[in-house]
Amino acid sequence: MDSFLIEGGVPLRGEVIISGSKNAVLPIMAATLLTAERCVIRRVPALTDVGYMSKILRSLGAEVILEDGTLTVRAAQLSGFGDYDLIRKMRGSICILGPLLARLHEARVSLPGGCVIGTRPIDLHLKGLRGLGAEVDTEGGYIRVHAAKLTGQMVFMGGRTGPTVLGTANILMAATLAEGVTVIESAACEPEIIDLAHFLIAMGAKIVGAGSPTITVTGVPALHGADHEVITDRIEAGTFAAAAVATRGEVMIHGARHDHLVAVLDKLREAGGEIVYCASGIKVSARADFKPVDITTMPYSGFPTDMQAQMMALACLANGTSIITERIFESRFMHASELMRLGADISIEGASAIVKGGRPMSGAPVMASDLRASAALVIAGLAASGKTQVNRVYHLDRGYERMELKLQKLGARIQRVEEE
Ligand code: EPU
Repeated sequence: MDSFLIEGGVPLRGEVIISGSKNAVLPIMAATLLTAERCVIRRVPALTDVGYMSKILRSLGAEVILEDGTLTVRAAQLSGFGDYDLIRKMRGSICILGPLLARLHEARVSLPGGCVIGTRPIDLHLKGLRGLGAEVDTEGGYIRVHAAKLTGQMVFMGGRTGPTVLGTANILMAATLAEGVTVIESAACEPEIIDLAHFLIAMGAKIVGAGSPTITVTGVPALHGADHEVITDRIEAGTFAAAAVATRGEVMIHGARHDHLVAVLDKLREAGGEIVYCASGIKVSARADFKPVDITTMPYSGFPTDMQAQMMALACLANGTSIITERIFESRFMHASELMRLGADISIEGASAIVKGGRPMSGAPVMASDLRASAALVIAGLAASGKTQVNRVYHLDRGYERMELKLQKLGARIQRVEEE
């Protein structure tokens, strides 16, 4: 298992280019299953999760070619029976269910397991599909869905903590080929849902309201191939912005969309970041002293859970106490104990982390537990004095394209240590 060796204390300086969005490309890849025609997806990031999703599509019979960031998928022949172990490996794979059901009228996929950040149920996905007329059974670790035809309905996608992103994606995709009009209420408003809707509209779907809590889909008999460029990754952009502030550097982040990052940039400014909007992205630097910040994660356009860990790393450097409250996932504080190895003072009280910032941070060996926790440890390692070894960076490779190379270009002393 590879690790990163970081020698901290170097301000990041220079320019970085943000890659295509992981959480946009995964459902868009699933959407290619809605047609037998060729689909072309551009600005596809080189991530292990994209590799897994390509394998899943191939295991269902699709032809998938990835060349220089352009993915071509042709699902002329398609099976609705996915490979158990392959699908189980990745949470994002759940969004093949809606397209398979819509196109083939039946599908069987393995139940995605829980993961380190929470139990991650799929009851809302299944409720939505039932709402469109599907029969759903779970048996032997599989979910089986069947519907002679899907019929448009009013579907409510709100859950305990608000809307579900991939649940909304699943129902949106299934509804494109349903008979009649589907209204998705309490839909997720994330930019990734808008990007998926743009792709589906390019395929011939009739969708109004994506990006708002009410999405209306008028079913069509068939969809055709389409060519689409994926939006840039707002979480990768936010991560580089947090790293630029934490190291008191100055970084031009090309491709960062400030309109996708309003809550994150607001908190970065409050913490000590200086942010300038430019035509090609944002320029991020830091003020002299850092201030504590209180953050509560929420569905979009609130502060994203996927930036919570990175902001906690920054809060460790501020003079004062920050309270960071996680409202989306029940156990997404695995990074706190690892940040403490670097010298941070953090206590967890229920859904809140109390970060007493300003303690000296110095390098140590730490263990990455999930994707965003790993990013937080890299930021902390870059800001700390001395050497930090971040172990198990395979988590990072799932969602950040060549992170160490991008950081090296910004002057960071970071090396990948490869292990057999
Ligand atoms: N939930 C339910 N029932 C469901 C579905 C979700 O109760 O059927 C709950 C979840 O347990 C959670 C909340 O609803 O408490 C929100 O979960 P959501 O369904 O929105 O998460 P997701 O769609 O499975 C996507 C991203 C995550 C990101 C979340 C929230 C992808 C592939 N994943 O997951 O990304 O944290 O939305 O924004 O799009 C990451 O990139 O690091 C990551 C974990």
